[in-house]
Amino acid sequence: MKPKILVSRKISNKAEEILKQDFDVTLNLDDKPYSYEELIQLSNKYDGLISTSFDKLDKNFFDNLTGKLKIIGHVGVGYDNIYIQSAKEKNIKVSNTPNVLNDAVAEITILLILASSRRIGEAFNLVKSNTWKDCRPDITKLMVGNEITGKTLGIIGMGRIGQIVADRARAFRMKINYFNRNKLSSDLEKDATYYPDLKSMLPNCDYISLHTPATPETKNIINEEILNFFPKHSVFINTSRGSTVDDNALIRVLQSKKIYGAGLDVFNNEPNLDKRYLELDNCFVLPHVGSATHETRLAMSMLAVNNIKCFFSNKPLLSEVV
Ligand code: 8YV
Repeated sequence: MKPKILVSRKISNKAEEILKQDFDVTLNLDDKPYSYEELIQLSNKYDGLISTSFDKLDKNFFDNLTGKLKIIGHVGVGYDNIYIQSAKEKNIKVSNTPNVLNDAVAEITILLILASSRRIGEAFNLVKSNTWKDCRPDITKLMVGNEITGKTLGIIGMGRIGQIVADRARAFRMKINYFNRNKLSSDLEKDATYYPDLKSMLPNCDYISLHTPATPETKNIINEEILNFFPKHSVFINTSRGSTVDDNALIRVLQSKKIYGAGLDVFNNEPNLDKRYLELDNCFVLPHVGSATHETRLAMSMLAVNNIKCFFSNKPLLSEVV
């Protein structure tokens, strides 16, 4: 009998087809989310689950599992929605999708840096709302922003994505500072300057981009105290997770122009983000689209499927979390 696999949401067609070759698969072709309770009930009928970030696989989820589920192939590099400790205790394997999304997330990071510096949100709205009337604007004012060429980018978390963002930024002749748990080897660090202390790096940056995973240690690392170290002209970029930001503190500095702006792809409590962000001209917002390219979503879907295939052929997982 083929192992039974549940795919909680729609994944790329090709990955679904390949999965069907070896497994007894239940797909979610309409992408209609299962309720939390439904997902628990269903998961007890399957040997494997392909999950996405929208599924809440918390302690209670694992407490309610009765022993059939053996592997979770998660589609996403971040797995903060999965209570890993319980998976470990219950001997349920978990895989994620690192690396395949690095380029896509780096692209969105550069887009956010550009959009928030060059006031692209305001400029776009001006044309879209058909209120672009003045054909002889004050050329020192209308939609005049900051150039990024030659400026300094501070990267918080110089992992796989942080390093690719640094490479893309170098194309704009940006100088790179980084704060990380460890100093990188010189081949990975290249010309970047390492700061073992975040507070000493921030005053030396024009742009600050966050690339850490969501963990208890990174929760609210962007808080009122740390924001005091951001220069007045600086821009904050977040493509990682909303939980790293204290919204009240960030919104306050944006409202009072204590920093120049922010470019955010991720939020606390998505999609119900703090609506005050929407009122700010100096905040460019996106609906968590960092990895949303055809190429990357296919690669993520395939990696999840291949992890499932490895598990059921007793091979080591390609990207094991636990
Ligand atoms: C996806 C992400 O939107 O990989 C991650 O951690 O946040 C995004 O790439 C999401 O994981 C889709 O499930």
